[in-house]
Amino acid sequence: MNKPFTAAITEVSHYVPDRRLTNADLEKMVDTSDEWITSRTGIKERRILEDGVGTSYMAVEALKSILHKKGLDAKDLDLIIVATITPDMIFPATACLVQKEIGAKNAWAFDLSAACSGFLYALIVGAQFVETGAHKRVAVIGADKMSSIIDYTDRDTCVLFGDGAGAVLLEPGEPRLGVQDFILHADGSGVEHLRQPGGGSLHPASPETVDQKMHYIYQEGREVFKFAVPSMAEVSAQILERNGLVGEDIALFVPHQANKRIIDACVKRTDLPPDRVVINIDRYANTSAGTIPIGLSEAVEHGRVKRGDNVLLASAGAGYTWGSALLTWAY
Ligand code: ACO
Repeated sequence: MNKPFTAAITEVSHYVPDRRLTNADLEKMVDTSDEWITSRTGIKERRILEDGVGTSYMAVEALKSILHKKGLDAKDLDLIIVATITPDMIFPATACLVQKEIGAKNAWAFDLSAACSGFLYALIVGAQFVETGAHKRVAVIGADKMSSIIDYTDRDTCVLFGDGAGAVLLEPGEPRLGVQDFILHADGSGVEHLRQPGGGSLHPASPETVDQKMHYIYQEGREVFKFAVPSMAEVSAQILERNGLVGEDIALFVPHQANKRIIDACVKRTDLPPDRVVINIDRYANTSAGTIPIGLSEAVEHGRVKRGDNVLLASAGAGYTWGSALLTWAY
């Protein structure tokens, strides 16, 4: 399909809280061990945002950093999309809180809920507005304060998640640079195995929902694992194949960071050289919508990608939602 413009990421940044929660700390809280967590997930520590501030705080920090690096004013933004499943509150949208806080007076703003695939979904939604020429500057943020929906007495889930945010700026790119292709999927039957049952319109918050811990993540880890491995691996391989590429052609692969074993399966399936793969799950755990932009931001900081490089993104998460995107790096 011929599009009037391409949509390119022209800046990326991230924010993670200072406070570290290590495996050793968790050993004191639940019946677990550094050895179990490391061997089953690859996680060593995660960051935890302080009480009294919400996801919007991290989103604002990441976006401010982008504006600073680009020398832009917040008024230059046309649209802000925040991908999150841990909004500051059910409404208004966290994106509106971000819009107010940074003074983006000319931007409209909305949240997008696709859990661990949230950033990927939001990136592709944002790209549409740039590709059609409707907008010149779209901020796409993936941010989650997962610690706000975790039961720190439940060893099955509390070891897996952390807090963090990443943001990108999308602008019209030169031909052949920017977002090249995407594959996105959803399968709502995933609700059976992964959800936050309480607090919505089905089970509004009440003393009973709190007693039953329905405001925390419910996850059947083994089931989710069985879904995530083939889904993320297939969608990564498929986007390469249909673009005539092989693993060697990818300069940087930024997979969602839910479990090092899921990432390893994707790398194996796509024949990607391991040194091209971004892995920071050891330091941040699963920050849900935050993982991909945080990984991208760190890779750019470390000079791991240059203009013209092929970049592959892939994710799988609650919904179920999953997908991949192929980019040609624009700066
Ligand atoms: N410490 C020690 N033992 C533990 C812990 C822990 N923290 N957690 C579970 N165990 C135990 C279990 O109780 C189980 O014991 P049992 O055999 O006596 O019943 C044993 O360890 C093995 O459990 P499994 O579930 O088989 O472990 P598995 O190898 O599958 O790893 C894990 C569990 C890490 C959760 C894995 O299944 C996984 O990564 N799943 C996918 C998670 C994911 O991708 N989530 C999606 C994103 S979330 C979102 O979208 C919001």
